[in-house]
Amino acid sequence: MGIKGWYDATIMPRLITCACSQGQVMKRRAALVPLARGDVFELGCGGGINHAFYDAGAITSYAGIDPHEGLLEGARRAAREKGWVADLRQGRGEAIPFAEASFDCVVCTFTLCSVADPAQVMREMRRILRPGGKALFLEHGRAPDPGVRRWQERIEPLWKRLAGGCHLTRPVASALAEAGFAVEPLGKGYTPKAPRFAGWMEWGVARKPG
Ligand SMILES: C[S@@+](CC[C@H](N)C(=O)[O-])C[C@H]1O[C@@H](n2cnc3c(N)ncnc32)[C@H](O)[C@@H]1O
Repeated sequence: MGIKGWYDATIMPRLITCACSQGQVMKRRAALVPLARGDVFELGCGGGINHAFYDAGAITSYAGIDPHEGLLEGARRAAREKGWVADLRQGRGEAIPFAEASFDCVVCTFTLCSVADPAQVMREMRRILRPGGKALFLEHGRAPDPGVRRWQERIEPLWKRLAGGCHLTRPVASALAEAGFAVEPLGKGYTPKAPRFAGWMEWGVARKPG
C-alpha cells in the first residue's frame, strides 16, 4: 500500500468522522434524522453515525449503502447493538441496489459532496422513493458569498484529494430542486466554529411529487 492508500484507509476516515461529529453538526443531525418515517434508506451511511438519532418507533425498516466496506462493518455493528434488523449493502448512489419505489424516506447527510455524479445519484434517490416520499438532506456546499466561494474554488482541488473526494462548491437545495424534488428548506447557514469555506450547510426535506 502506497502513502496515498495508507492515508485513504487510516487517516482520512478519521478526519472525516471527526469533522462530521463536531457539536454543531450533531445538533443538526439531532433535529433532522428523527423526521425519518416508514421504510428508510440511508445513502452513504458510513459507520452509522446517524443511528443514534432515528426515532426507532417511527421506522418500519432500515436499509443503507456505502462503498466503504470497512465503514459498513461499523454501521452493521451499531445497528446490531440497537437490536435493529438492518439491510446494509456495499454500493454506490449512482446505482442504488434496491428496486424502484421501495422506500418512504431517504436520509442523506454529508454524502452528496462526495459522490462522483450527484445528478445521477439524485435520479436514483427519486427512483427508489415511493410517490410522495421524502428525502431528508443535511449537506455542506457552495456558499452564497462570492468571497467565500472564491476560496472554495481555490481550495477544492487539494481538498478533494485530502478528504475522500469531498467537493466544496456543489449546490445543495437548488440541485435537489433541479432534480425534480419539491424542496422544503428547514435551514441554511455557516456552521459556528468551522472554517467558512467548509461550513456552509443546507438542510431540509426534498419530496418526490406524489
Ligand atoms: C463525509 S462522509 C459522511 C458519512 C455519513 N453520511 C455522515 O453523515 O457522517 C461521506 C460518505 O459518502 C460515502 N460515499 C462516497 N462516495 C459515495 C457514492 N458514490 N455513493 C454512496 N456513498 C458514497 C463515503 O464512503 C462516506 O461514508
